[in-house]
Amino acid sequence: MTTASSLKAAQAVDENRLWGRVMQMATHGGTPKGGVNRQALSDEDRAARAELTAWAKAHDFEVSQDATANLYIRRTGSDPSLPPVVTGSHLDSQPTGGKYDGAYGVMAGFEVLEALEAAGIRTKRSIEVVAWMNEEGSRFQPGAMGSAIYAGKYRLADYLETRDPKGAVLGEELAATLKALPVRERSEAPKPAAYVEAHIEQGPILEAKGLQIGAVTLVQGSRRYTIEIIGEEAHAGTTPLKARKDAMKAGAAIVMALEKAFEDPADVVRYTVGMFQVFPGSANTVPGRVLFSIDFRHPDKETLVRLTSQIEGIAKANARGCEVTVTRISDVSPTPFDPAIVGLVQDVAKALSLPSHAMISGAGHDAMHVAHLCPTGMIFVPCGRGISHNEAESATPADLAAGARVLAATLVELADR
Ligand code: HGY
Ligand code: MN
Ligand code: MN
Repeated sequence: MTTASSLKAAQAVDENRLWGRVMQMATHGGTPKGGVNRQALSDEDRAARAELTAWAKAHDFEVSQDATANLYIRRTGSDPSLPPVVTGSHLDSQPTGGKYDGAYGVMAGFEVLEALEAAGIRTKRSIEVVAWMNEEGSRFQPGAMGSAIYAGKYRLADYLETRDPKGAVLGEELAATLKALPVRERSEAPKPAAYVEAHIEQGPILEAKGLQIGAVTLVQGSRRYTIEIIGEEAHAGTTPLKARKDAMKAGAAIVMALEKAFEDPADVVRYTVGMFQVFPGSANTVPGRVLFSIDFRHPDKETLVRLTSQIEGIAKANARGCEVTVTRISDVSPTPFDPAIVGLVQDVAKALSLPSHAMISGAGHDAMHVAHLCPTGMIFVPCGRGISHNEAESATPADLAAGARVLAATLVELADR
């Protein structure tokens, strides 16, 4: 049964205020094509964090950050000693990202806090909105780093020396980010009472069904590797093909052999080569080094294990005389969400006369790590043609507000328990 207080909180969500916040956040790293390039621990990311902090301080919300630069905005409850209910997502983006991936979840959480202020509702438990550090992993691998460290799955110390493609060091960028925000550094991290994250679906299902709300039941598993190939640089004109150790040709052969091995008639396996670097990158020098990424995903762990077992053999079989090194970057198991949270999202959506669809997430999210700490769930809203990780990513004010209303009522239900 949805309480009057949670329905009142949902009704206090302001569509225009939320849309304005999302659009303002999109100015940080905004691109001419209407997307964002706001990569983790960049100047653009630091500007976005500063703006969110200023908005929070205007409301006297408590602002803090931990040593990983996860940023916490807290609206204190009537019993601040209780573990908080937490929401949030990420402010960092892909290099050619959209305005809504991640930022929507942080803005929707912040909108809930503003709606509670406007409605004069004081929840029993504090509610915290978190902007998790480096969810995308496009600048510093792996992704969902801040939430994984928070959940105790990764150790920050293991990643401080990580470099981005331009050679910047994560530890230095992290120090600059922490220094840029004069807020309380928090060391303690009480386990949340619950965590609920709002996010655009980044797929076509909700839009195709004409629905505004997805109740996420599971985040599919994902594995990411890099493959480095060391051959021998040589003259493109004088070196006979049979005398070459061509890292590029070996790389191409491995990419295509993996595609064949990962083929899935049901089109459920997701296999992507998103980064492929060729050195020295001169048209008339046989490439001596290649470095590329493979990212593959599936809802079933055994399938991921089976696919993984083929990688080394395929790489060696297509090495063409080069040295091949396969390195694991990340391995996140399929993560089911707490059925009680999924059910609450569905009940709240129904109470708000918003039909919902239970569905799995093809994309990874910070919630997949937080789920190891507390009852966790996610709320999806549609995005235009399911496009994401693309500057053309789009959404509507009404859909974003509908998701924020379900989030508001869900968080109040949980915060008053
Ligand atoms: O890669 C992912 O699934 C997430 O969108 N970063
Ligand atoms: Mn995201
Ligand atoms: Mn993303």
